[in-house]
This record gives sequence, structure tokens and C-alpha cells, in this order.
Amino acid sequence: MATPHNQAGTNEIAESILLPGDPLRAQFIAEHFLEDVKQFNSVRNMLGFTGTYGGKRISVMGTGMGCPSIGIYTYELIHFYGVKNLIRVGSCGSIQESLKVGELVMAMGASTDGNFAHQYRLPGTYSATASYELLECAVRSAREHGYSCQVGNILSSDLFYTETPEWKEWAKMGILSIEMESYALYCNANRAGVRALGIFTVSDSIVTGEGLSAAERQTGFTNMMQVALETAAA
Ligand code: ADE
Repeated sequence: MATPHNQAGTNEIAESILLPGDPLRAQFIAEHFLEDVKQFNSVRNMLGFTGTYGGKRISVMGTGMGCPSIGIYTYELIHFYGVKNLIRVGSCGSIQESLKVGELVMAMGASTDGNFAHQYRLPGTYSATASYELLECAVRSAREHGYSCQVGNILSSDLFYTETPEWKEWAKMGILSIEMESYALYCNANRAGVRALGIFTVSDSIVTGEGLSAAERQTGFTNMMQVALETAAA
């Protein structure tokens, strides 16, 4: 049951999947966090793997960058492969003074400067929200481990480089941080009635220009992975 972007056969992908943007990150996660791993995709080098975590079957696959890319992969995972729990694991840039590099962010909602929801012909503006079930589970896991985490609205932007500081306007609306994919993930999941959540490590501060050191990046990533895996396996 291959698609143009995924060569996996029926039942090769688990009901719960972790979704980093970078396919090599997907491979790293499979090799370091999962057991009994089998690769299911290499089309366009968008690597995907299925293994187990604590005895539960979990998959991990790259999504590429931006809403169009994650939109394609998650649509196929949901509609052609029956995936029910989609957890994005990524990095984001803080636009609030109070949100520090290395902290975790859970996206209760995603706003956008893009047009992904245009396809639904809605008579207004769509607020893309996470699965409360997954969010509650992830927050509980982060609290139990004592990881510093903020929960709120993020911006899924189509723009990484901008000539004007548009982030300042989003910051006034209480947006915590910027990434580039969750709005499309939440639209696809909500439209199909399945669960999605975005969990992030703050890799940089757009407010202060600060970034993570290599060691801090590793710690933040490991903490985020622990929370994401516990949520996926719950
Ligand atoms: N992901 C990590 N940092 C980001 C930023 N500053 N803008 C958009 N996506 C990001």
C-alpha cells in the first residue's frame, strides 16, 4: 500500500509515531531509543522506522521543513496507514523574554502566517489545537521528571528569514515561540479525528539572539524525547 512518498507496506507503521523534521534525527531516535527496529521508508531519504519502546510498538519518521512537507507525510500516515497518535518533536525559537533556551514547549495551539487551512473553505479563521489527551500526558511526564516546560500557543511560520520583525506582533498575542510545521499537523489530525501534539526544545531566542550550546542541545533533546516517548507509549 505504497504512496508516492512512502514505500511502507500495510501494518509496517505503528499507531503512534514520533515526527522530527530531520530524517537523520528519525534514524538517531530509532537507533538510540527504540528496540527491534525495522526501516519502512527511504523514498526521498525521508527515513522512517518502526520499533518498540517499553514493549509498545512506536514508529518515527522525518517530515521535512514547513507545512506543505509535513502536510503530505502526515496526511498519508493518517489516511493510508491508519496512524492515530502523531507527536512532532522539534526545535523552536522563543519570542518571549520569559521562555529561555533549553526549556520545553508544548503547543496547546498553533497559529500561522500561512494558508494551509484555506483548503477547508471555512467561513472564518481556524484555531489549530493539540489533542488534550496527548497534551495532558506530556505535561504530566515533564512535571514528573522536573523538566521546565511552558504550554501555550506557538506560530507555525512559512518564513525562516524575514526582513521585518513580524515576530513582535505575534509576541503581543502571547505566542510563545516559532517553528514551521505544527499548524498543518494539527489541521490534518483534527480534520481526520485523530490525535496530534507538538513538543519542542527552545533552540534559540529571537528576543535575545541567544542559542543553545552543543551540550545544552543534547540535554534538551534527551528530555524532550523522554516526554515524547512516554506520551506515545501511554
Ligand atoms: N525552529 C527553531 N528556531 C526557529 C526559528 N527561529 N524560526 C523558525 N523555526 C525555528
